[in-house]
Amino acid sequence: MSETMKALYKEAAKCAEEIKKYKSVHVVSHIDADGLTSAGIICTALERGNFEYTTRFVKQLDEKALDTIADENHDIVIFTDLGSGMCEQIESRGIHAVISDHHQPQGSYQFHLNPHLFGANGSYELSGSGSTYLLASALGKNQDLSSLAIVGAVGDMQHLKMGQLVGINREILEEGVKEGTLQFKKDLTLFGKQTRPIYKLIQYSSDPYLPGLTGNEEACIEFLHTLNIRFNQNERWRRWIDLEDPEKQKVVSGLIQYCLKSGIPSYKIERLVGEVYVLLREKEGTEMRDASEFSTLLNATARYDHAEIGLAVCMGDREKGYEDARKLLAEHRQNLVNGLMYVKEKGVVQLENIQYFDAGSEIKETIVGIIAGMSSTLVKNRNLPIIAFAKAEGGIKVSARGTQDLIRRGVNLSEAMSMISAEVGGAGGGHDIAAGATIPNGKKEEFARKLDLFIGEQMQRKAHSK
Ligand code: C5P
Ligand code: C5P
Ligand code: C5P
Ligand code: ZN
Repeated sequence: MSETMKALYKEAAKCAEEIKKYKSVHVVSHIDADGLTSAGIICTALERGNFEYTTRFVKQLDEKALDTIADENHDIVIFTDLGSGMCEQIESRGIHAVISDHHQPQGSYQFHLNPHLFGANGSYELSGSGSTYLLASALGKNQDLSSLAIVGAVGDMQHLKMGQLVGINREILEEGVKEGTLQFKKDLTLFGKQTRPIYKLIQYSSDPYLPGLTGNEEACIEFLHTLNIRFNQNERWRRWIDLEDPEKQKVVSGLIQYCLKSGIPSYKIERLVGEVYVLLREKEGTEMRDASEFSTLLNATARYDHAEIGLAVCMGDREKGYEDARKLLAEHRQNLVNGLMYVKEKGVVQLENIQYFDAGSEIKETIVGIIAGMSSTLVKNRNLPIIAFAKAEGGIKVSARGTQDLIRRGVNLSEAMSMISAEVGGAGGGHDIAAGATIPNGKKEEFARKLDLFIGEQMQRKAHSK
């Protein structure tokens, strides 16, 4: 075990001791896959420890949310996948809390489990769910929950930075492998290996973008025909998991050949194959078997105000909860398709260093970021970050998505969104590759103009530092 992991476990033990002083606990978490898995981990641990608990899911932990929580006078509150940015505001309201998070800390707090405080990077070495897994392990025998920790890390895309999970995430992964709950292996990275027909995996590939195949169903089916891949089995479309190993080989090398012929640079082609994470105790052919599909299933619940369904699935509900989640997933997919069609029809406004679209109230603000990410397959110029605007309560929601290439060239969307939103009277943050903000109504044009200049400056800074 690394020294960092030991130090984190020590802090987790201190937090666990504090929690054990109370009988009832209020859990506050974030409405995305990492937030749901974090809540699933801590609630399972609390249930096993015979605690009483209540839960609350928020889009963001702002002052208003904290006021409400303070008014409720809980004995103790556990904040998961959020809270680190609000240490002082938690303290000043007299909320007695344990914070288990991985976002950049602002201020300090007595019971605070966060990788940044122990020399690890919270954007790719430990997720909120990972942090909460350490807390749960300190509360009792909960090692089986490592699989949820990995789903949360993958949901936050922490494996993309190095092409695999590293740091404390990796140590948790290894605990899961030992425990028999997790497996990692090199495989095709395209989305949907457990549940989708093979051609769909190719059709929806956005990273890498496959010119001529991405977005073109017929071309994808034809591509598989030329490789002699049989489509049907017992009247069903075959999925990736239905293929024999030599067939998988054939598809992977076919795709690589195709990319080479299309002139795609090798570092992009390499992204077709990467480390993937399998949940061994889940049934094959279900979303929960694959960390990436599991995280999307969870997003389909919490981002539509149904966090309770995602939480139920995290806590082992494979009947009603799972059934409800799959219905929401079908709607989520439809919304994603509609959103993409909207972007395709309306097009994007291209400035010098960014491109943007304004979805108004046509796309829900909680998924406009996902659509911004997926719309990279539609736009002419994939070398510019995509910025999306959508109507939100009391302002405009902004989502920004970049690529590994852009980061290499100096773009940091987290910095840009945080700085520029503050300049127009809003607030934002996130990760270098994916960030968000809320800005006041009427500030869209000014924000876009300023962001365009700022991102230009980021790239120049990098170019000069070389
Ligand atoms: O709230 P939060 O930190 O979890 O946001 C993560 C979001 O950023 C996800 O919706 C994910 O799709 C996006 N992301 C991305 N590409 C990455 C990393 C994150 O689109 N490489
Ligand atoms: O939800 P998230 O942004 O994490 O999704 C990651 C990727 O998974 C998307 O960019 C998209 O390519 C894929 N996806 C999909 N079908 C869905 C949801 C996500 O193909 N229903
Ligand atoms: O909402 P969206 O998916 O675009 O969020 C991307 C990232 O930006 C997430 O990590 C989220 O936590 C962060 N974000 C933020 N402040 C906001 C909105 C989003 O830090 N106002
Ligand atoms: Zn997170």
